[in-house]
Amino acid sequence: MTEKIIPLADQRYLNRIPIVPAHLEAPTGLLADTRARPLHDLRISITDRCNFRCVYCMPKEVFDKDYPYLPHSSLLTFEEITRVASLFVAHGVEKIRLTGGEPLLRKNVEKLIEMLAALRTPDGRELDLTLTTNGSLLARKAQALKDAGLKRVTVSLDALDDAVFKKMNDVDFAVTDVLEGIEAAHRVGLGPIKINMVVKGGMNDQEILPMARHFKDTPYVLRFIEYMDVGTSNGWKMDEVIPSAEVVRRISADMPLEPIAPNYTGETANRWRHADGSGEIGVISSVTQAFCSDCSRARLSTEGKLYTCLFATGGHDLRALLRNGNSDEEISTVIAHIWRARDDRYSELRTANTSELKERKVEMSYIGG
Ligand code: GTP
Ligand code: 5AD
Ligand code: SF4
Ligand code: SF4
Repeated sequence: MTEKIIPLADQRYLNRIPIVPAHLEAPTGLLADTRARPLHDLRISITDRCNFRCVYCMPKEVFDKDYPYLPHSSLLTFEEITRVASLFVAHGVEKIRLTGGEPLLRKNVEKLIEMLAALRTPDGRELDLTLTTNGSLLARKAQALKDAGLKRVTVSLDALDDAVFKKMNDVDFAVTDVLEGIEAAHRVGLGPIKINMVVKGGMNDQEILPMARHFKDTPYVLRFIEYMDVGTSNGWKMDEVIPSAEVVRRISADMPLEPIAPNYTGETANRWRHADGSGEIGVISSVTQAFCSDCSRARLSTEGKLYTCLFATGGHDLRALLRNGNSDEEISTVIAHIWRARDDRYSELRTANTSELKERKVEMSYIGG
């Protein structure tokens, strides 16, 4: 059973307003945390709303019509997002991912993409600018997103069978509409496109093989994600996790796979290719094989809190600084101090019973996936 939680607006998690250090410093692009992990990847949640109610993310019983979504005035504006993002880029961030909720629900998202696409790394390169979407609005928006300067998209799809998919998204959304979105994104050049499938044992694990077969011989990279204990409302149980090793075993029994090297240090997925040369798959094993040791991801919540881990119980309120008139140099120094102090490695320390945590973890729809 999922627990019904009604968070108090603005007190939903432990948040701190950062103290601006007396000594200000210019960014060097070379930040490292307490475990020598650089800051490379910024994930920005631009809305806490979604038109799906995936059982593992926004279960209907919790995210119902009474759920206290953030009011518009709480959201960072596009100007605020771009300003913070530019400070992160000066600190070494090269990849920005927009998430949510469903990021394509944010009004005029193309405008934000245009603003972010204009940012350059200190040595003048364009960013890897991408977003994670459920695909529902992609067919309609792909061209505008491409024109605005988005590089690529990652699309969530948990099943090929309509009945199973509808059970997962819980809003009766059909598979073909997502597939059309993926094709539209491909047509306009928003690739390489990755497809993310969260595997929840007893719900959609029978779809592992059909999905692998469907996306073999396509330009799309299908990635199987272990069901995680993010947030507090999805009622996560260890026995509903299908370990990635089992996913690889089931697929290889039908279509032989060979391991391949990561694309970059800190990649979330372990990569495998079809032995007959017909494409690759990935497995993301946060539960059975944590990848915290190379985690270079910072997260900015919908209302401008900086989180240094997906499983954090509290964030650093950058919006307070933005709206209190603090300078770029001050906010940049604050970011440097926060990253240097970072020692998160939740997935490495996870226990089978995460309710042992005293404080409430943030929901994925709020912090971004
Ligand atoms: P690429 O840039 O394409 O390599 O994407 P990515 O794998 O960094 O990002 P994506 O959003 O596609 O991540 C896929 C899934 O991996 C997410 O939806 C999460 O379920 C999970 N994930 C991503 N980052 C983290 C992380 O830092 N910690 C944990 N535990 N899981 C993560
Ligand atoms: N476990 C694993 N992945 C999750 N996502 C959301 N909730 C979970 C969860 N409990 C990820 C999925 C989805 C993205 C938006 O967030 O990958 O594709
Ligand atoms: Fe929405 Fe994505 Fe969460 Fe599903 S996983 S409810 S599509 S934000
Ligand atoms: Fe990074 Fe936290 Fe995920 Fe570990 S659990 S990989 S530290 S976000």
